[in-house]
Amino acid sequence: MSTVHVFEHPLIQHKLSILRDKNTSVKEFRELISEISMLMCYEVTRDLPLEEVDVETPVATAHCKRLAGKKLAIVPILRAGLGMVDGMVAMIPSAKVGHIGLYRDPETLEPVKYYFKMPPDIDEREVIVVDPMLATGGSAVAAVNFLKEVGVKHIRIMDIIAAPEGIAAMQKAHPDVDIYVAALDDHLNDHGYIVPGLGDAGDRIFGTK
Ligand code: PRP
Ligand code: URA
Repeated sequence: MSTVHVFEHPLIQHKLSILRDKNTSVKEFRELISEISMLMCYEVTRDLPLEEVDVETPVATAHCKRLAGKKLAIVPILRAGLGMVDGMVAMIPSAKVGHIGLYRDPETLEPVKYYFKMPPDIDEREVIVVDPMLATGGSAVAAVNFLKEVGVKHIRIMDIIAAPEGIAAMQKAHPDVDIYVAALDDHLNDHGYIVPGLGDAGDRIFGTK
């Protein structure tokens, strides 16, 4: 069974409270998504392996540590996941970025794929899937399926807000994929929206409603 990590860091929780507010402007919403992603990136990469390295400073040799092992890739689920990329890449400038285009059919709530483009060596990378919302889990489960189909072996998923239904769906379909969230909300409403949530993340990032 995968682990669910809920980030209680005060800065993340403070910014999330403003993000949820229906009166927050598109500009501020976008900035907050990016800032929260940066802070969550710091937490989601906490267990990355390090290797010893000696560095010559102007004074002497310093015994240092650098990231070792697998290279990283950030994979946003379009559209809303795009809002999280800048914050992640600011923290991990060498990460490659793949894109998965999915939207939820408003009637069935089933994810529909319209785009899939990955770096060529994606199967050798540690992948962090990013999307602000994990609602029914349909989009996340499908995204991870597509990544596994092209040979990706190490995947973690980072969402800002998750519903219990989405967590359960992900843990059932992908027990090997750890889930990192800033908040675990109460439930889904009849339209598949997270309650209390923040509304439609894509619309609030891009100002489409
Ligand atoms: C939202 C969100 C997730 C998905 C979550 O995207 O960004 O991708 O819904 O819902 P689920 O867990 O029930 O699949 P949406 O389909 O609204 O598309 P958009 O990002 O293009 O607005
Ligand atoms: N997608 C969103 O953008 N918000 C929700 O609450 C659920 C799915």
